[in-house]
Amino acid sequence: MILVTGAAGKTGRAVIEVLARRGAAVRALVRRESQLAPVEALGAREAVAGDMAELAVWRQALSSVQAVYHICPNMHPAETAIGQTALAAARECGVSRFVYHSVLHPQTEKMPHHWRKLRVEEALLESGLDFTILQPAAYMQNVLAARESIMSEGIYRVPYPVETRLSMVDLADIAEAAAVVLTESGHGGAIYELAGPEALTQVEAAAAVSAAWSRPVRAVQISAAEWRRQARSAGLGSDQVETLLRMFDYYARYGLIGSGNILRWLLGRPPTTFAAWCRSVAL
Ligand SMILES: NC(=O)c1ccc[n+]([C@@H]2O[C@H](COP(=O)([O-])OP(=O)(O)OC[C@H]3O[C@@H](n4cnc5c(N)ncnc54)[C@H](OP(=O)(O)O)[C@@H]3O)[C@@H](O)[C@H]2O)c1
Repeated sequence: MILVTGAAGKTGRAVIEVLARRGAAVRALVRRESQLAPVEALGAREAVAGDMAELAVWRQALSSVQAVYHICPNMHPAETAIGQTALAAARECGVSRFVYHSVLHPQTEKMPHHWRKLRVEEALLESGLDFTILQPAAYMQNVLAARESIMSEGIYRVPYPVETRLSMVDLADIAEAAAVVLTESGHGGAIYELAGPEALTQVEAAAAVSAAWSRPVRAVQISAAEWRRQARSAGLGSDQVETLLRMFDYYARYGLIGSGNILRWLLGRPPTTFAAWCRSVAL
């Protein structure tokens, strides 16, 4: 039995689907009772609901589990403490494999949510568990949040310079890589950087969207103040907003660039290009 946490989120759902297709037995940990049936419909054999910040929830979720795929909610301020709780429970329950969904470049203190993941990685190295760490780049799927303005105005708004380079990766490739390390041997002790095959500027990304969605699209930088206003009115909490603004500031200075080599090796094929992904989600 493989426990997948954060199971009702976009990463969790993608991982469950691939594991279920491979015939793996999955138990899903979700936050709310209403999320139990949807994750079972995706292929989870069992599902439990609870707050992953609580040790008792982990103890219940981990009973008779051999491996864990731990996905912490995005930008959770207690990610380090949650990771430590998860590791303590995993040791107590005799779990043999622990795979952690981290992020590309967790070594970056300027991005608080990356830095918190590094602390979890450190605890994992010292846990004595058989571990694998996956470090995904920003998902291509994040672009879908801008779909409405792209379709209605032909504008792809980004809160950093349009020359900023990102090695975006297809979440479907990440889910497939997660299934490989969870169901095949030989990945114990590994830390895998999982980036897409190209580091595109936002101008290049807009051009790929334009070609695939058959409409003119241009990338436009919006100010941090404008982005903050939009994010707050969309209901994002102040902690999340400030964390994301620090990430955008980092992107503006350095981009977020990784290599697609490990993903290519794990999947046994080239990772999905941004152009191909855009075509796959064209309406
Ligand atoms: N997006 C990217 O580009 C990217 C790139 C690399 C790494 N990552 C990492 O991937 C991870 C997952 O991101 P995601 O976008 O898939 O997340 P997500 O869609 O926000 O899903 C998180 C899930 O966790 C649940 N949850 C929240 N608090 C919980 C709690 N206390 N106990 C149990 N469950 C709880 C949420 O439930 P509700 O539905 O009730 O809120 C949601 O279903 C994050 O750690 C993120 O940093 C993301």
